[in-house]
Amino acid sequence: MNSAASSRVPRHIAIIMDGNGRWAMQQGKPRLHGHEAGVHAARTIVRAGRDAGVEALTLYAFSSENWLRPATEVSFLLELFIRTMAVELDTLHDEGVRVRFIGDRTALPSNLLAIIEASERRTASNPGMVLVIALGYGGRQDLVQTVRALGAQIEAGALKAADLDEKTLRDALDLGDLPDPDLLIRTGGEYRISNFLLWHLAYTEFYFSDILWPDFSSADFHQALAWFAERERRFGRTGAQVHSERGDQDAQ
Ligand code: FPP
Repeated sequence: MNSAASSRVPRHIAIIMDGNGRWAMQQGKPRLHGHEAGVHAARTIVRAGRDAGVEALTLYAFSSENWLRPATEVSFLLELFIRTMAVELDTLHDEGVRVRFIGDRTALPSNLLAIIEASERRTASNPGMVLVIALGYGGRQDLVQTVRALGAQIEAGALKAADLDEKTLRDALDLGDLPDPDLLIRTGGEYRISNFLLWHLAYTEFYFSDILWPDFSSADFHQALAWFAERERRFGRTGAQVHSERGDQDAQ
């Protein structure tokens, strides 16, 4: 391993926290118990990310398709998010974390909406890691909303279609000006991106783990970081170009 690689910490990590239901069933408990355990894992990984110097951590907590789950599970999850934010907000704030939510808020209950807005307001000027919670989020819906908003600007004469470029579009997406994730972690043994950050994952490194989310520990997270540090990111260029730009001794 070269030393440049070993010191590379991803600036932005996105995580698909999968496997809560299976984890609970393996223990002979109801699926909802797995979501409770999932919150503990999320807390551990937020701390681990912050301590590792990650600038942004985006957690996929509830997708636009998760609304299709049984009504009891959906309402349990929404209540769990309210409870979790109520319990964690003070600590996150004290640790300097900036909390943001992405996703469609229109279907969220008013008490959840209230705590989302309060969390964002209270932590808005914190200097530390940005914690993005994707809730009611879908990558396709994000793109449609954005195209619609830009289309409206074009109709109003505020934007010219010919001036629309990658930066205009990406800045208008829900993540705004955060850098694209460098690393995507998906737990739970599935190999798909499930309508997560479709635009932003174009050049992200994908790390898949069989571990079910409630069991995903700080050591597992560090294993993913170590794996990432070994990746050679080329963004379409050749390996030789990348080595030579980095000034590696063995550039060829
Ligand atoms: C996947 O497990 C997880 C979810 C649907 C999201 C819920 C996540 C949490 C409760 C973690 C806490 C996060 C925050 C930010 C408070 P699954 O039910 O799809 O598992 P399965 O594939 O085993 O059925």
